[in-house]
Amino acid sequence: MSIKIGLLGFGTVASGIPFLLQENGQKIEEAAKDKLEIAKVLVKDDAEKERLVAAGHAYNFVTDVDAILSDDDIQIVVELMGRIEPAKTFITKALEAGKHVVSANKDLIATHGKELIALAQEKGLAFYYEAAVAGGIPILRTLANSLTSDKVTRILGVLNGTSNFMMTKMVDEGWTYDAALAEAQRLGYAESDPTNDVEGIDAAYKAVILSQFGFGMTIDFEQVDHQGISTITPDDVAVAQELGYVIKLVGDIRETATGISAEVSPTFLPKDHPLASVNDVMNAVFVESIGIGESMYYGPGAGQKPTATSVTADIVRIARRLSDNTVGKPFNEFSRETRLADASDVKSHYYFAITTPDEKGQLLRLAELFNAEDISFEQVLQQKASDNQARVVIITHSMSKTQLAHITDKLSAISDMTLLNTFKVLGE
Ligand code: NAP
Ligand code: HSE
Repeated sequence: MSIKIGLLGFGTVASGIPFLLQENGQKIEEAAKDKLEIAKVLVKDDAEKERLVAAGHAYNFVTDVDAILSDDDIQIVVELMGRIEPAKTFITKALEAGKHVVSANKDLIATHGKELIALAQEKGLAFYYEAAVAGGIPILRTLANSLTSDKVTRILGVLNGTSNFMMTKMVDEGWTYDAALAEAQRLGYAESDPTNDVEGIDAAYKAVILSQFGFGMTIDFEQVDHQGISTITPDDVAVAQELGYVIKLVGDIRETATGISAEVSPTFLPKDHPLASVNDVMNAVFVESIGIGESMYYGPGAGQKPTATSVTADIVRIARRLSDNTVGKPFNEFSRETRLADASDVKSHYYFAITTPDEKGQLLRLAELFNAEDISFEQVLQQKASDNQARVVIITHSMSKTQLAHITDKLSAISDMTLLNTFKVLGE
C-alpha cells in the first residue's frame, strides 16, 4: 500500500517533487511510515499532456480535476497552479471530498485562507502551506512550533526572492531592470504575473500569513501598505551607499501598544544589519522576541528544489499523521482578536529625497517645515541636481506614520520643491 497524491499543476515547483521522492525516497518513506505515490497529475490540456510525456514524465496526466477529486484512493491533493481561481474552487472541492491539502499559493491563502482553514477544520483535514512564505525556509512551522513559548514583537523579512535577485544584479553587477527580471523568470523565481514580485504584492501576501503565525492576528491584505522596488532610483541607491546603508524590499510586521501593523517597502538597512547581506534569491526572516531576543532564518526564497522541498515536507507530515492516526491538527493554532495599530504608534526613521531651488534659505525652509511637524533631522546631505536645482536628502529621527502623512502632504503642496522619494530607514 502507499499514500496516493494528486498534483494540481506541473510547473516549476510541482515538477521538483519527483526529484525528492526519487533521490530521498528511503528517508521520506521512513518519516512518512508509508510509500508516497504521485497517482495523478492535473494539466491544462492534451497538448500539455503530450508535451510532458514526450519530455519523459511517466505520470498519469489528467485534464479534468474531477478525475482526482472523485478518486477515493487519493488522500492528499497538492495545489501548485497558483493564482486565486480555479485554485480556490479546486481546494474547496478537495476538502469537501475529504482530501488533505498542501499548497504554496500565498495569493490564495492571504486573501481566502480563513475560509479554507475553517473548512479543513470542520472536516478534520490537514491544510498545510509551508512553502507559501519564503520558499525553502521552514519559517511557518518554526513560528508555530519552535517559537510557541516565545512572544514575537517584530518580524522583519526579505520576503521576495525575485525582487531581491533583481536588486542584487542591478546594484552589484549593473544589470538593467529588464535583464534582471527576465533572468528571474528564466530561473523559475518569478510569479506568473511578476508585477506581484516587483510591486511588493507577493511580499505583502507573505506578511499577512506571517502576522497569523507570529502574532496570532489576521491582518487583511488590504491593510498591508505595500510599495515595490520599481520606485527606487540609482540616486537613492548611491546615497544609501554613501550614508552606510543598503536598500532592500523589507516586510515589517510589529505589535505596538495599540495593535499590529504590517507593511512592505524599500528600506534603508544599516550595512551591519544581518538582513543587509541577504542577496540574490536568498530570503531571510529576522524575528525579534522576548525570549530568544533576535534570531534570523535564512535560505532560498524561491526556485524549484527549495520550494518543492517545503511542499514535500508538508506531504510527508500529513502522511505521517495519517499513519499515526493524528491527522487534522491545524497548521497554526495561535489566534487572538486582531487589533490594528494606530498610525501614531508606528514609528520609524525615514529618508526623504527632495529637489529644491539651488538658492540660499532652502534648507532653512525644510527645517521649519519638518520642525512644525515635530520631526527632527538625523542626517542631511545636499547635492547639485542641475544648474538651478539642488537635491536634499534627509534622514530623520524616529517619527510616526501620522507625522509621515502630514509632512508628505505639506511637501507635495509646495510648488518649487519636489518630493522624489520617501523610504523607511531601519534604526534604533
Ligand atoms: P508555474 O511554473 O507557473 O506552474 C504552475 C502550473 O500550473 C503551470 O504549468 C500552469 O500552466 C498550471 N496550471 C495553471 N492553471 C491550471 C489549471 N487550471 N489546470 C491545470 N494546470 C494549471 O508556477 P510555480 O512557480 O510552480 O508556482 C506554483 C505555486 O507555488 C504558486 O502558487 C506560487 O506562488 C508558489 N510558489 C512558487 C515559488 C517559486 O519559486 N516558483 C516559490 C514559493 C511558492 P500554464 O503555464 O499553462 O498556465
Ligand atoms: N515569486 C516568489 C519570489 C516565489 O520571488 O519570492 C516565492 O514565493
